[in-house]
Amino acid sequence: MAKQITKRVSWVGKVDWELTTFHGDELSTHRGSSYNSYLIRDQKVALIDTVWLPYDREFVNRLKQVIDLDKIDYVIMNHNEIDHSGALPELMRHIPDVPIYCTKKGEAIIRGHYHQDWNFVNVKTGDTLSLGDTTLTFIEANMLHWPDTMFTYMSGDNILFSNDGFGQHYATESLFNDSVCMHEVMQEAEKYYANILNTYSMMVTKKIQQILAMNLPLDMICPSHGVIWRDNPMQIVEKYLQWADAYQENQVTIAYDTMWQSTRLMAQAIADGIRQEAPDVTVKLFNVALEDKNDVLTEIFHSRAVLIGSPTINYGYSFAIAGLLEMMKGLKLKKKKAAAFGSYGWSGDAVKQINQHLTEAGLELINDGLMKLWVPDADALAECTAYGRELAKAL
Ligand code: FEO
Repeated sequence: MAKQITKRVSWVGKVDWELTTFHGDELSTHRGSSYNSYLIRDQKVALIDTVWLPYDREFVNRLKQVIDLDKIDYVIMNHNEIDHSGALPELMRHIPDVPIYCTKKGEAIIRGHYHQDWNFVNVKTGDTLSLGDTTLTFIEANMLHWPDTMFTYMSGDNILFSNDGFGQHYATESLFNDSVCMHEVMQEAEKYYANILNTYSMMVTKKIQQILAMNLPLDMICPSHGVIWRDNPMQIVEKYLQWADAYQENQVTIAYDTMWQSTRLMAQAIADGIRQEAPDVTVKLFNVALEDKNDVLTEIFHSRAVLIGSPTINYGYSFAIAGLLEMMKGLKLKKKKAAAFGSYGWSGDAVKQINQHLTEAGLELINDGLMKLWVPDADALAECTAYGRELAKAL
């Protein structure tokens, strides 16, 4: 069902309550998502973005109930990952000659995905398209988070259509940020930023500064996932500026794996030591093999320091820790301290290898790490607690 946003703009997307993972299995989506598509009816009619491929027919059929497809003058593709461009072939089957406005890289990506010779119009930052009383201005947003990404600003209604930027994987029938639980939305917005955009933080800051310098009046930000920022849209812009600037809260995250509980006992004793030395620090422990990897990554994203623990297995670290370390590396975390620990039986290689990986991922090692042989006894656990106290001092 279409939902009216302003007199001229309607939401015509798809709310996906069933989505549990995104990007294959790369990103968990505990609260579903939405693929937001917007229809602007001025003297000319423009459609901004489509929806994910499995919903292509549903999307086009519902769009037909809102408007005669032949009345669509322009299709604007802000970003062409399949969750936004998936329904394009089904749509273009009905309106094959309608121009598709996108960046040059957007055209290349659409061609690469769908192998169709549609009527592409390449746009750059500052290019405009008059719809009558309102005008669209295009703003390239290269690598936020794909090379083709752009934002579209609509004058008159003062809306920034930001595609993935400022989005959240959050299913709601209510549509606006002032009609949902903001705590949930901000949790999902942060998770989205940490897992999808943090890698490109430098570009995020630059792009936001560029848009702010344009002094555009802003009444709403309409992203392609989750809620529309209608109540104080600048709140999410300000959050992005904070998140993009090596964001950290007063938290230490201890992420570990354990085979026979020894590394878990170490983790708990280290946590006790940190708390003894620095009671104001929030300390959180996660068994990575049991927890959702993206939730752990989000906790790491907003921590001052991260401690990684693994038993040594087959001369290395565990499968779960390997996955976490690899994902941490991809996020390009900044200004975070780190240390390693783990139990071992003979070779004890895990700590050394975790150190190497943490260094390669750009984290600053606090020390050489802590290893304990077999099951830690009372003395060994006291050493772990002392180690935690030393870590807290180093923070
Ligand atoms: Fe929501 Fe990058 O696609």
